[in-house]
Amino acid sequence: MIDLLNYKELIQKAREAKEFAYCHYSKFKVGAAILTDDDKIITGCNVENVSYGATNCAERTAIFKAISEGHRSFKAIAISSSESPKKLIYPCGICRQVLAEFNPEIIVYIDGDEKSYKLSELLPKSFNESQI
Ligand code: THU
Repeated sequence: MIDLLNYKELIQKAREAKEFAYCHYSKFKVGAAILTDDDKIITGCNVENVSYGATNCAERTAIFKAISEGHRSFKAIAISSSESPKKLIYPCGICRQVLAEFNPEIIVYIDGDEKSYKLSELLPKSFNESQI
């Protein structure tokens, strides 16, 4: 578990990150902030493309940025969207799978949701290395 200060800061960083969203097609901003084991916060936003399938979600932008900067261990991720905190926006299936690669038990905070989740609750019986 992470402490209250970290949790609030993480949500705040996700809120700030969504302002950078490139969401020309959906107009739906998403921001994510991932917390490393050594307490660094790395943010990401959704980046859309005219070829819609080339769009990258905020969660993947954040984790790919973190990985590419040398981080490998993560404790938590917070997600905020245009509709937050009114509507609760949960990570898509692809992002869940990508997060599971690095920590299947990462804590997921959703802006507006009082409850936090372990990724394993959101992605039970995930496909993992032991299956290949
Ligand atoms: N999106 C995210 O960034 N994260 C999610 O978990 C769900 C969807 C983005 C992708 C697209 O730019 C927009 O939200 C609408 O689907």
